[in-house]
Amino acid sequence: MRVFVREIGVHAVNVLITGGSGYIGRFCARELVAAGGRVVALDRRPAPPLGDASATVSLTGDVADRPLVERLLRDHDIDVVLHLAAEKSVADSMTAPGPHLLANVAGSLHLLEGMRAQGVRRLVFSSSAAVYGSPRRVPVDERAAIAPDNPYGAGKAMVEQALHWYAVAHGFDVVSLRYFNAAGAAADGSLGEDASAATNLVPRVMQALAGLDGPVPIYGTDYPTPDGTAIRDYVHVEDLARAHRAAVELVARERGERVFNLGTGRGHSVRQVLAAAGRAAGRAVPCVEAPRRPGDPAAVWADASSAERELGWRAERDLDDIVRTAWRWQVGAAVSAGPVRAAPASAGPAR
Ligand SMILES: NC(=O)c1ccc[n+]([C@@H]2O[C@H](COP(=O)([O-])OP(=O)(O)OC[C@H]3O[C@@H](n4cnc5c(N)ncnc54)[C@H](O)[C@@H]3O)[C@@H](O)[C@H]2O)c1
Repeated sequence: MRVFVREIGVHAVNVLITGGSGYIGRFCARELVAAGGRVVALDRRPAPPLGDASATVSLTGDVADRPLVERLLRDHDIDVVLHLAAEKSVADSMTAPGPHLLANVAGSLHLLEGMRAQGVRRLVFSSSAAVYGSPRRVPVDERAAIAPDNPYGAGKAMVEQALHWYAVAHGFDVVSLRYFNAAGAAADGSLGEDASAATNLVPRVMQALAGLDGPVPIYGTDYPTPDGTAIRDYVHVEDLARAHRAAVELVARERGERVFNLGTGRGHSVRQVLAAAGRAAGRAVPCVEAPRRPGDPAAVWADASSAERELGWRAERDLDDIVRTAWRWQVGAAVSAGPVRAAPASAGPAR
């Protein structure tokens, strides 16, 4: 089956990527265009052109704008939707769950209704390991209980549920991809995350290493883990992009509903990430201990064997690849924005 899917590929498949100006969306667009797909990117923010211009269209707008979504599904003859658009701040979701869920859940329902109205029924959804909350056992596989610790994860679980009922009622074919912690940049330094806007650990570490932000707060040093800091599964963004291509191929060829964990199968503590990043940059990461944040589980890493079996996908890059490429991207971005400032001698405020 896998061989058959690979033979078909994504050549000439028209894909709408919501959140196409975002970190992961841009890598997915590049991967799909390189494989011969045609991409329409929809995002609230405009993005610089990417890849083969003739195969990429960028539109600025909101997924909740039904008339716009329906028009572009029709005008661009969309076959498959990659739905990445979302607010991803767990902290904001904890302090203001209403606006967060309106954006992520109601926004997704508007998109689904637009798809239904236009007869587009294939969708790949960016879900998250956050649906598991604090899993009882690690590694966590897809049969683990859905028990989110925060509204962000709850919203992802709600959208997965909605997709199930769209599959039942309207014949949607769906792949939900539960990513673990996406990180890293292109190996050639050409694409990466806007670290100044990101709050995730790896970009925050890069900002601190470059002297563009204060010491990295280590939220929680008393977790029941070997070094007391929280453990996560960091998966390289280029590996994730390959998984999206495989998911588009699968959903374009086969009917049904599927859910896959996307992780490396290995967990790393915050202190291990800091040590790896320090090695990559050749200097220690300035850091400061801080209390745990509400809604942060102690240890989560993936059993991604279903993705390997059914999607033919496995993470190929490790933590060292992640921090090496992220640092290269950080240095390159700093060069284009002006000289990297020296790290401040005194600790800045912890975020
Ligand atoms: N980065 C991670 O580690 C991670 C982990 C698990 C899941 N995810 C999910 O992956 C997806 C992409 O994440 P990312 O890291 O690229 O985030 P990102 O913030 O870089 O990209 C998301 C993009 O979506 C856009 N967007 C948000 N709401 C929108 C709306 N209503 N209409 C149109 N555009 C909208 C934003 O402008 C942004 O460009 C998100 O759904 C996120 O929840 C990310």
